[in-house]
Amino acid sequence: PTPAPEATVTPEETPAYKLVKPGVLTVGMDATYPPFEYINETTDEFEGFDVDLMKEIGKRLGLEVEFVNVAWEGIIPGLVAHKYDCICSAMTITEERKKQIDFSDPYFEAWQVIVVRADCTDITKPEDLAGKVVGVQIGTTGQFVAEDLVKSGINFEIKTYDTTPDALLDLKNGNIDAVIIDNGVAEKAIKNNPDVYKTVGGKLSYEEYGIAVAKDNPELLKAINQALKEVKEDGTYDKIYQKWFGE
Ligand code: ARG
Repeated sequence: PTPAPEATVTPEETPAYKLVKPGVLTVGMDATYPPFEYINETTDEFEGFDVDLMKEIGKRLGLEVEFVNVAWEGIIPGLVAHKYDCICSAMTITEERKKQIDFSDPYFEAWQVIVVRADCTDITKPEDLAGKVVGVQIGTTGQFVAEDLVKSGINFEIKTYDTTPDALLDLKNGNIDAVIIDNGVAEKAIKNNPDVYKTVGGKLSYEEYGIAVAKDNPELLKAINQALKEVKEDGTYDKIYQKWFGE
């Protein structure tokens, strides 16, 4: 009997993964989250740690990279509906989200912190949030951590915002008492406005960010993981880290 013929399609020529646009890696992000992703108001360009990371990943896949600005609420349904190929948006890998989408290997460690006004003296620990109004970006781990604190018996009101800057602005204006957000974003806000904001109360969670891909696109996930590994191993990751988080 003659053996079955070898496959004639080489994976190099025909990547097995799906793309919204041929030759382009389309990345969804809620670009209201400096220093991870934001729009430079002067140039109108996407900027941030995640933007640089995805440009490098695209380079290694031989793909152009295009960014799409999407509201955080709806960012996961948009991926499932293939409006973009992946999400890179400081998105924490969670068991709940893993039911809907796949995540790459972790690329960043983060945790939730409490941000208060710089002159605040009555909130120094999570328990002090009792009776206060706490802002969070809707659908974020900040909201989930706040809800867990309330469930644990610290009774406060949670106010949800479409974006994190909206919540921080309301805090600055005295309309709410605290905000719970990712440490990197809090540190950036404090660096820019040291007499407006400060953090209190330590780390409220341990989280890892991942790049999200639709569940029906496992080959793309594999390719992204391989590219991410290369970016980490060849020193590029450290350069990007230094650019955004070094002194
Ligand atoms: N890490 C948090 C989460 O995954 C907040 C991310 C918000 N990202 C953004 N680009 N707005 O829920």
